[in-house]
This record gives sequence, structure tokens and C-alpha cells, in this order.
Amino acid sequence: MKEQVEQPIILGIESSCDDTSAAVVRGTRLLSSVIASQKVHELWGGVVPELASRAHQQNIVPVVDAAFKQANIRKEDVNAIAFTRGPGLLGSLLVGTSFAKSLSLALGVPLIEVNHMQGHILANFVDSDENNHHPSFPFLCLTVSGGHTQIVRVDDYFSMTVLGETIDDAAGEAFDKIGKILSLPYPAGPHIDRLSREGNPQSYVFSRPQVAGLNFSFSGLKTSVLYFIEKMKKENEAFVEENLADLCASVQYTIIDILLRKLKKAVKETGIRTIAIAGGVSANSGLREALGVWAEKSHIDLHLPSLHFTTDNAAMIAVTGYFKYIKGEFTDQSAVATARYSL
Ligand code: KG4
Ligand code: ZN
Repeated sequence: MKEQVEQPIILGIESSCDDTSAAVVRGTRLLSSVIASQKVHELWGGVVPELASRAHQQNIVPVVDAAFKQANIRKEDVNAIAFTRGPGLLGSLLVGTSFAKSLSLALGVPLIEVNHMQGHILANFVDSDENNHHPSFPFLCLTVSGGHTQIVRVDDYFSMTVLGETIDDAAGEAFDKIGKILSLPYPAGPHIDRLSREGNPQSYVFSRPQVAGLNFSFSGLKTSVLYFIEKMKKENEAFVEENLADLCASVQYTIIDILLRKLKKAVKETGIRTIAIAGGVSANSGLREALGVWAEKSHIDLHLPSLHFTTDNAAMIAVTGYFKYIKGEFTDQSAVATARYSL
């Protein structure tokens, strides 16, 4: 094994869902980031696990090669390999995990396992030209992805406490499932975001869930949109097409409102006024704008990661790997992919 160095070069590998990604960092500085998104799932309206694993197998070698090339390094220059151990789809995770293990053996460098959700949060610490303003501890992170919705108190790179989370669907899942009802392609989040810009968010009012504490719920919203659409379609078959932008804007407005209410409550309860966001839904322009307005008005120190680091990417895995490297937290060939893996 190589000796520990101060500014290690770390290869990060991410394959937990439907993006095959590899990135290289030196310390926290990003040298390269490559993402191969899988188009096959669009046809099915959601991620098909078997197809995802197969696509990861096809993509992983060229994606890692491209990350080395873009970073302008040789694979022998790498000091450690960080990989997503979980949570995620088991078959998908296995591809990244096995690849990381064999490359680590071939190069004689240590392995670092990373929790995907911790990675999303630490994406806020990736240094790149457009992502160079990092939150200071302690801060609250609103992690909103396709699989998770959490408010996390972050006291340190490794000290994270989930203060609240969804009791049913995740925020991204709400975007995607409601998008499906509106006949939008998968994943629907970015489409709803785009269409919302031309719609009126006050056109339709959907009910807000009553959930205790800092927890969230989104399945009721999905059902109420479904019933509403079914009712309106009985009167006018073309209701959705004719009112698509207004419907999207109203749905997005409701989701943002649910998220913001709980985040404001968390600020009140903890007294912490530094906020960061993470996960695919944190790319949402309406959410970013609403957070910006609130932060300005309420003197919140807001950190919005650049868009590249919001959805699944390996830069966040590589940078988490760096923080673990500094701590000397390595794993070995016995590491196993884990579908469920709490923070
Ligand atoms: O973090 P991510 O890439 O993967 C998971 O770990 O789940 O998040 C994917 C989710 C999907 O549900 C997708 O629809 C949503 O993020 N998403 C968005 C936007 N971009 C991605 N949702 C709303 N607005 C967006 N601009
Ligand atoms: Zn994710």
C-alpha cells in the first residue's frame, strides 16, 4: 500500500441508481467528473433495476477511463478509490463496488466506502470554479432526492443527525409520480421545473399534509392530484394538455411550500441559520429561488451547490472519500454493497 499523502488524488465511483459516474479530486479540488446517464428507463416510466445493472456494466470502464483522461492523470497516480456502498439498487451498487475492489487490487491502493446520502451533503464541499462557497458547521441540510427527503443537522463532515424525513414518498418521487399522471417523461422533475416557469402557481390549490414534527409526507399530494385530474378529464378529455404549465406550477409550488415550512420550523427549533441543500430536487429552479428569497428576508446563510453536484455524481463520492482518507477510514475487499444504509 502507498503511504498517506496530504493532497491525495482520489477516484470516486458512483453507481447507486441510473447514473454511472466517475470523478477525480486532488484534496477537495475537482479534477474531472464524468456522468453517463441511462436513457433506457425513459421508455418504462421509471428505473428498471436489471436494465440499470446492465447499463452500469457497459458504462463503467469507459466512464472511469474518461475521468482519468479529463483529469490528465494516469491510473497509477491515484492514492485511493472511493465508491458508493449504499443506499441504492443492489444490482447497480454491485457493479461500482466490484469494479472499485478490483481496481484497488490491481493498483495496490486503499478502498474507501461512502454512504450516498452523506455524499450528497458533502457535495457542498467540492471545490470547483463555480462551487467554491462552502457552508460552515453547524448547518442544516435539506436533502431532497428521488429516494430520500431529509432535514439533517450537520455538525461535522461525519457527525450528521437526521431531524426529520419523509414517512412515505420522497420529494423527487412526488415530482416523478405526479409527472407520470401528467404524461411527462421520466424523470419528470426537470420537465415540471421547466414547464412551471410558464404557469401560474396559484391556478390550483392542493392540500398540504399534516405531519408531526419535522417529518414530511408526499403520497397524499400525489393522490389528490390524481383524483383531481380524473375528475377534470371527465368534463374535458384535453384538460391536462390545455393546462399543463399551470398544473406543473401549482404542483411545484405545493412541493416547495411543504419543504420550506418544515425547513423554517427546523431553523426555529435548532437556532441554526446556515442552510445547504443537496440531492436531485435541489436542482429545482423554483426551490432555489424560494430559498433565496427567504434567506435574504430572514438573514439565512444559504448555500446552493452548483447544478452539476445536485443530481447523482461521483464528485461528491470522491470528496467524501477525501475526508475519510484524512481520517484514515479505509475498508478492504470484504466490503459489501448495501441497499439500505442509514446516515
Ligand atoms: O439525487 P438524484 O439524482 O438521485 C437519487 O439519489 O434519487 O435525484 C433524482 C431525482 C428525480 O426524482 C428527479 O426527478 C429529481 O431528482 N430532479 C428534479 C430536478 N432535477 C432532478 N426535481 C425537480 N426539479 C428539477 N430540476
Ligand atoms: Zn442521489
